[in-house]
Amino acid sequence: MKKVIHVGVLGLGTVGSGVIHILQERREKIFLDTGYEIRVKTVAVRDLEKERDVSIDGIVLTNNLDDITDDPDIDIIVEVMGGIKHAKQSIIKAFYNKKHVVTANKDLLASYSTELLQLAHENACDLYYEASVAGGVPILRGLIDGLASDHIRKIIGIINGTTNYILTKMSQNGWSYDQALKEAQNLGFAEADSSADVDGLDAARKLAILANLGFSMNISLDDIHVRGIRHVDKTDLKVAKKLGLTMKLVGKAEMSNSVISLSVAPTLLPNHHPLSSVNNEYNAVYVHGQAVGEVMFYGPGAGKLPTASAVVSDVISIVKNMNLDTNGYSLLKEPQSYILKQDQEIFSKYFIRILLKDERGILKKITECFMNQSISLKEIIELPLDDELVEIVIVTHRTSRYQFERTLRLLEDVAGTIKSYYCIEVEKENA
Ligand code: NAP
Ligand code: HSE
Repeated sequence: MKKVIHVGVLGLGTVGSGVIHILQERREKIFLDTGYEIRVKTVAVRDLEKERDVSIDGIVLTNNLDDITDDPDIDIIVEVMGGIKHAKQSIIKAFYNKKHVVTANKDLLASYSTELLQLAHENACDLYYEASVAGGVPILRGLIDGLASDHIRKIIGIINGTTNYILTKMSQNGWSYDQALKEAQNLGFAEADSSADVDGLDAARKLAILANLGFSMNISLDDIHVRGIRHVDKTDLKVAKKLGLTMKLVGKAEMSNSVISLSVAPTLLPNHHPLSSVNNEYNAVYVHGQAVGEVMFYGPGAGKLPTASAVVSDVISIVKNMNLDTNGYSLLKEPQSYILKQDQEIFSKYFIRILLKDERGILKKITECFMNQSISLKEIIELPLDDELVEIVIVTHRTSRYQFERTLRLLEDVAGTIKSYYCIEVEKENA
């Protein structure tokens, strides 16, 4: 008789339906890999009447999460409903009931991974969350297994599919921001609350997960300097293009002797930089290890099947651990303490657009703001718009975040003349 592992799935949206689909389609292969048939017994949803785009014949549908977390037949729980409160409660309950857990929930893992991994360990259970970062790209496995022997010093990349899709479509197809966001939502890339994507929080959560694993730390989200793309417009992208630059939302974590800096920000990259050719919902992450040098992970960062493929691979890992009786040790590491790098020690070039009334001496006033903070300017471009308005685009040489932010405050004081400005960090040419 075939040995069977019963799975309960919390959530049947974009990712959940992909998980059911892959488990159905790959049943034979998974059996050959693990010696078990993986059978989905119960799926939890909010709305029992909603039409589903995957066959759920033979699967029990419930809107009571306890039907899964308390079911003694179920060995593995897949949490793909999102949110923190119910997901956290269900996962904790699962561990107390000796069930292993796979989740794609970065909101939860960014803040509670240490606590949940510890609880999993105490109950000899696994907790895997490969799909929480970069969708279908096996980057957490890469960090934990492939680079286990190395000392990771820097992680940098594009880790949000929705914003990368938006920036690509705005820049290459001339779409508006709203049009591109809507399409990213239709394609299932965006979070239930898409402000997490466009304001950079989703990328910050993923950066925290990567840095926690890469640097063995328990990083607070508050320690990440976060800016999103909500205020980016087509003109920013057009002007950047003229200067040979492409805008991407870049997450960056650096560590040296336990001093770290973490940021997520719209970043202008030279067109020949490898990250500038990562388009649509694709993600790419460079990991710098002391021994290995630079390794790049690349692939689809969001969407139904890529994400579900990472989830199902985690399920398979758990079953393989069950075969070997090695459950309870997944991803658990003793967190090291860290110190945050100060703004005075964080250097970058900057790109600024300033819209001004075209009046005598205005350019001098603007450059004085930079001189006041000893910031030297690499490029100044003046673009007359009409008789009254002029746009000035400035690219600085490398300066500290501290000096730059002081300069922004001085610029704001050039009373009544600044209508709007955008400032976007320019990344070093070699990531
Ligand atoms: P989604 O399409 O909104 O689906 C959420 C599902 O969870 C729905 O089926 C919903 O039920 C169900 N649900 C939500 N709250 C529930 C509750 N309290 N009780 C029972 N069922 C509940 O979301 P998704 O895009 O699949 O994302 C799921 C998770 O994966 C999130 O943590 C997300 O951040 C993560 N993730 C998503 C992607 C992606 O590309 N979409 C990629 C990586 C990670 P109804 O259908 O009845 O409303
Ligand atoms: N909303 C997320 C993104 C889903 O766009 O990257 C994948 O984590």
